Amino acid sequence: MDKPRVIVTRRWPEEVEARLAEHFDVELNPEDRPFGQDALKQAFTAADAVFPTVTDRIDAEVLSAEPLRARLIGNFGVGFNHIDLDAARTRGLAVTNTPEVLTDATADLAMALLLCVARRVGEGERHLRDGAWTGWRPTHMMGTQVTGKTLGLIGFGRIGQAVARRAHRGFGMRVLFFDPFPPSDQVLRELGAAPRETVEAVLEEADFVSLHCPATPENRHLMNAERLSRMKPGAFLINTARGDVVDEMALIEALGDGLIAGAGLDVFEREPKVSAGLLGRENVVLLPHLGSATRETRIAMGLKVLENAVAFFGGAEPPDRVV
Ligand code: DGY
Repeated sequence: MDKPRVIVTRRWPEEVEARLAEHFDVELNPEDRPFGQDALKQAFTAADAVFPTVTDRIDAEVLSAEPLRARLIGNFGVGFNHIDLDAARTRGLAVTNTPEVLTDATADLAMALLLCVARRVGEGERHLRDGAWTGWRPTHMMGTQVTGKTLGLIGFGRIGQAVARRAHRGFGMRVLFFDPFPPSDQVLRELGAAPRETVEAVLEEADFVSLHCPATPENRHLMNAERLSRMKPGAFLINTARGDVVDEMALIEALGDGLIAGAGLDVFEREPKVSAGLLGRENVVLLPHLGSATRETRIAMGLKVLENAVAFFGGAEPPDRVV
């Protein structure tokens, strides 16, 4: 029997690409050039499965491809806000993602951003590399203590809980969260985390606010000007979720007006574009969407896509089916 044909839109770790070739007639992207909308649409007519990433906008127009050959979208990533799920459903396409394997890497990065922005790590490094350091002194680059402070989590799923564990056990932080679907009391006790009824209640108490909610239409600009103004003066905002959960312009204003002390951001509203109002600020730490970017995690993500696709084409239920 012929192997199913799959198109992979970006370069993957080579050991996973080799594994793909064992199971599929695979078209890779060795030069790692992003597909345009036309090339994406074309892929759906040319392959049985398309394996995209967050940089591919799989919208209704792309999914209107005719004659449609693809039956599966195997997303390389847990977030799927770049895929029009309704259109996929209408066209009879299955969609899978890669949950769990990136939880620890993303939680680690949220803590890294939190520590970097509180302790002025990026700013200090720039200062030193620029040759501006004149020596130790008691008032030099004083930052904000992390240990023992209050962390507020918006969204308390897998990644939010992993951040809570690190913050509570590692840094003795008090952890609060808002999530419409909280875990069991036993999990809350284990993580030392306390629920709050509203986002605002978390914002008003937290020294650090970290976002871990999905990028649904309802969560677009969840952190708007009003909510940013509810944060404590001197508090920090951390975002490793999705850029459009924060109104980037409102954030720039809040930072400029000193409403909050700083922000650690791994995701942006118009990636890969980052607003000049952020690039010019010292009290922000900015990373290029690196949440899951460890070698181990990226390999595990690729293997998840593979596992889902092998199940799908073998007639079994893919473990991480979204649609
Ligand atoms: C994810 O898995 O959602 C990462 O943000 C990359 O897409």
